[in-house]
Amino acid sequence: MLYEPFYNPEISYDHNFEKGPFGAFADGEVATDEGEPQYDFFGYKVYSPFGIPAGPLINGKFVQGALDKGFDIATYKTVRSSEYPCHPHPNVLSVNVEGDLTLEIADKGLIADNNYHEPLSITNSFGVPSQAPTFWQADLKNILANVRKGQIVIGAFQGTKKEGGSVEEYINDYIICARMLKEIGVKVMEVNFSCPNEGTNNLLCFDVERSSLIAQAIKSEIGNTPLIVKVAYYKDEQMFRNFVKEVGSIVDGISTINTIAAEVRDIKGNQALPGEGRLRSGVCGHSIKWAGLEMVKRLSDLRAEFGYKFTIIGVGGVTTPSDYLEYRNIGADVVMSATGAMWNPHLAKEVKKLLKI
Ligand SMILES: Cc1cc2nc3c(=O)[nH]c(=O)nc-3n(C[C@H](O)[C@H](O)[C@H](O)COP(=O)(O)O)c2cc1C
Repeated sequence: MLYEPFYNPEISYDHNFEKGPFGAFADGEVATDEGEPQYDFFGYKVYSPFGIPAGPLINGKFVQGALDKGFDIATYKTVRSSEYPCHPHPNVLSVNVEGDLTLEIADKGLIADNNYHEPLSITNSFGVPSQAPTFWQADLKNILANVRKGQIVIGAFQGTKKEGGSVEEYINDYIICARMLKEIGVKVMEVNFSCPNEGTNNLLCFDVERSSLIAQAIKSEIGNTPLIVKVAYYKDEQMFRNFVKEVGSIVDGISTINTIAAEVRDIKGNQALPGEGRLRSGVCGHSIKWAGLEMVKRLSDLRAEFGYKFTIIGVGGVTTPSDYLEYRNIGADVVMSATGAMWNPHLAKEVKKLLKI
């Protein structure tokens, strides 16, 4: 069932930021858990290994709404080292996909509209906006002070490509962000490697050498604070293998997947999201579950082969408690839902019912 989403796609990002969250996230009711939390998350105990990944929790009020509704691992939206604008409205549309969004179907393109329906798949296109650090540091610090027993907040970040900037400056920007998060007492960090890579047209996670360099640089900065890297779907198994071999020995967790890109048009065949570079847009929700599950399985096999210990965080298409179980059964230590949680604020409670928590 689709409930009122906590982020309203019909109104602007700024409007959501100011007035949201909406629906049950704003009702003030707090889901409480009995007893002691049993699940380990980088040495911290949580009631359930389930949460919301980077993106939909756009500020502290949204994070609070998620924690109140029993999402025990809540990720504060990806931040940057300086203020960064959001793409023009709309930023979210429903997409029509029959079954799985395979890479072949994604290549053919999709039709988008405002008719959100089950099974739910959407496209999201924000451009990873960020408030200035003065804002997000204070906002996140405030939330960290209110986290209840058995819950945790992850601080997510990424480096920014600057016009005319060097690769060194790009790498340094990751270090600056990590330092800012550490300063305010973030206990677990996630760095987004499924973002553009300075000096190339590719995603950072597809550049193994640079990913490894950046992961190393961040770890040197934050010491033993756990670091998760967020990666995209890899078509190329050899590249993925190299990535896991190199980066898997440096970081504490790997989260996968982000979205699958497809050309998105309206029913008349026009570009659905206005502006340059927005014909191709990331798709998430039910139709990408196959890709998230496949990546978790591959990751789990590689972790065993290399004898590594990193935590596996499975993301992509989780909209029901049985999706959660599928991820756990295939090798995810932790599971997260973005699209599913947006339209079902009770998903964490439903997962807990299944786990009998
Ligand atoms: C509204 C929205 C905003 C997102 N923003 C980010 C982001 O800022 N950083 C990031 O790493 N991923 C972002 N994502 C991707 C999600 O974290 C997740 O990887 C992806 O949506 C797949 O999960 P899902 O199928 O449960 O939505 C966003 C997703 C959504 C729906």
